[in-house]
Amino acid sequence: MSRTIIRGGLVITATEEIRADVLVDGERIAGLLAPGAAEHWDATARVLDATGHYVIPGGVDAHTHMEMPFGGTFASDTFETGTRAAAWGGTTTIVDFAIQPPGGSPREGLDTWHAKAEGRCAVDYGFHLILSDVGEQALKEMDGLVGEGITSFKLFMAYPGVFYSDDGRILRTMQRAADNGALVMMHAENGIAIDVLVEQALAEGRTDPRVHGQVRHPLLEAEATHRAIQLSRVAGAPLYVVHVSAAEAIAEITRARDAGLDVFGETCPQYLFLTVDELARPGFEGAKYVCSTPLRPAEHQASLWQALRTNDLSVVSTDHCPFCFTSQKELGLGDFSKIPNGMPGVEHRLDLLHHAVVEGRISRRRWVELASTTPARMFGLHPRKGSLAPGADADVVIYDPAAEQVLSAETHHMNVDYSAYEGKRITGRARTVLSRGEVVVDDGRYLGRAGHGRFLPRDTCQYLT
Ligand code: URP
Ligand code: ZN
Ligand code: ZN
Ligand code: ZN
Repeated sequence: MSRTIIRGGLVITATEEIRADVLVDGERIAGLLAPGAAEHWDATARVLDATGHYVIPGGVDAHTHMEMPFGGTFASDTFETGTRAAAWGGTTTIVDFAIQPPGGSPREGLDTWHAKAEGRCAVDYGFHLILSDVGEQALKEMDGLVGEGITSFKLFMAYPGVFYSDDGRILRTMQRAADNGALVMMHAENGIAIDVLVEQALAEGRTDPRVHGQVRHPLLEAEATHRAIQLSRVAGAPLYVVHVSAAEAIAEITRARDAGLDVFGETCPQYLFLTVDELARPGFEGAKYVCSTPLRPAEHQASLWQALRTNDLSVVSTDHCPFCFTSQKELGLGDFSKIPNGMPGVEHRLDLLHHAVVEGRISRRRWVELASTTPARMFGLHPRKGSLAPGADADVVIYDPAAEQVLSAETHHMNVDYSAYEGKRITGRARTVLSRGEVVVDDGRYLGRAGHGRFLPRDTCQYLT
């Protein structure tokens, strides 16, 4: 087993910033030593020079959709291409969503997703499970799945006829979760009301991508968020609200948290850095920015940044769900409701959040906390992931805080024909990335391999008492 010393960097975790050398023994962190002291540990160890760089735990992206079936097509990143792109950006763990198939069981969904991912991933991966058809059998299976490390389940209040669950099914799932320790993740948008607005818009001949942002009203996100919170209270279960974008929805989460409830919220870089104006781009280009919840008017962003500071939103994941503009997004030409929902992002989450550090919006420790440590704890992966403590997996990023990069489809590694941030200048970049002790990216070279990444059975949420 090889040993590595990461020397001379500023080690940043969720709780501290210290000058230290990081010792890696095989797949694990062996310890942190005062600068220079590591030579006495093992004179034969490989040395990675981190002078002038940050040393942080690898990113944990708790919300991705590789190869996700949606609207008659599949998200364009496979587990192979998507996890490779994640590695390029310093994300060394993803938690993707397996889906209960229509008319099938959660177990079948999980088996299908295991088959897609096994032997293909560049970095470690876990699964949540999307429950699309909650019945007695599905609820029973949930208990066993929790025991196998599938400890979180996503429900949809949106997409009637596809993934949608009504309030009764949501309540039953939450009651089961209160018993078996699972965390219910909620796509909180009132899909029934949205579908009425979609139908009315199309009948009026309003068909272009801008309308996507109009029919998915912020109040319909807030209403669903409120309802999900009340249902979770009745069930006595914790709740994690995914891809929060509306200020009014944040207010609901904040109120719940102020009342002491186990309600958690996540947002994504697209809501922090892009606005609904993107949907108005000419030539159907707005379709590139169609995702749900939708991008919002700029005034929502102040609430998002504030909630990230106050911890009313505690995780930033990507909701990476890429569809190529040509051939996939174009399925919605002439009918915005047929544009596959989702945006690419798995590669640049750490960089965009680091950019927020540079802009003075969040601290360096908060950057690590939002992108790595809290998602690891939220989804039962800590301290193995999201930490540089002795015994943790040696998922480490040597991050260059001064590197300049311009985001572009020309240079990104995601399997999608556009960048949502084309031309955006970013300060900061992952220089060297280790996944369980193996260098997978170094100075612009990819050294990883499909199949290095392993499935991660997860514990239950570590924020619950
Ligand atoms: O538009 C999105 N978010 N697509 C992925 C599926 C989901 O709802 O997370
Ligand atoms: Zn969703
Ligand atoms: Zn999603
Ligand atoms: Zn450098």
